[in-house]
Amino acid sequence: MNYKRLNPAIIHLETVDSTNNYAANLLKTSKITNGTVIVTKGQTAGKGQRGNSWESEDEKNIILSIILFPEIQPKDSFYLTIAASLAVHKTISLHLNNVKIKWPNDILVGQKKIAGILIENQIKSSLITSSIIGIGINVNQENFNSGIQATSFKSELNQDFNLENLLNELYLNLDFYINLLMENNFKILLARYYENLYKFKVPAKFEIGAEQFTGLIQGVDATGKLIVRRDQISANYDLKEIKFVF
Ligand code: BTN
Repeated sequence: MNYKRLNPAIIHLETVDSTNNYAANLLKTSKITNGTVIVTKGQTAGKGQRGNSWESEDEKNIILSIILFPEIQPKDSFYLTIAASLAVHKTISLHLNNVKIKWPNDILVGQKKIAGILIENQIKSSLITSSIIGIGINVNQENFNSGIQATSFKSELNQDFNLENLLNELYLNLDFYINLLMENNFKILLARYYENLYKFKVPAKFEIGAEQFTGLIQGVDATGKLIVRRDQISANYDLKEIKFVF
């Protein structure tokens, strides 16, 4: 696929239920260009991973979805996760230290979550025909629901951050990493993902069901499952099977 956002189409919304839902409707009803972005000041029903909601105070954070027509095979879909994670990671680490990607695509500062990504793919005849990449970054919000280990630019730096500048940096980084993907630079993407992966090849605590253990992340397999070595034996886990213990 040829991905060059020379004239990026950016749709600005005051408020919306979810930018991912808006993007999905747009895909059904309009002819849109590759790389179209939907950005909003607030969501009334923001969606997170695993059916969770994504809470974000109005006008304080980055909330957007980007629509791609990647035409890659579903077996390579984890590279969309990798490209998006790297773009968000890069944008944040230009300003903050100790930024890591927690498998598969949470962005942490230290052990606190600063950004989340929700990717929804449409598949037809064994190709990913379109992909909606939803990104939420905590920027100027300081209070989070109890029970969530979250942080933001403002919590880390004690000052307000310019949302517009950060958005522009994010667009550039998305373009860069999506181009790497579209040019099939899978090896480079995976190497960069590992460089920035939380607890990569260092002892980390995990939970499977009621059992906790210490293991070493060896990498991810071709389908995006996490490969964890425990007592000299490696096994591959999907998101429903394994959890980090903080
Ligand atoms: C997660 O970590 O649970 C994923 C959060 C993804 C949130 C973003 S905000 C923009 C886009 N629209 C949504 O409804 N969700 C994503």
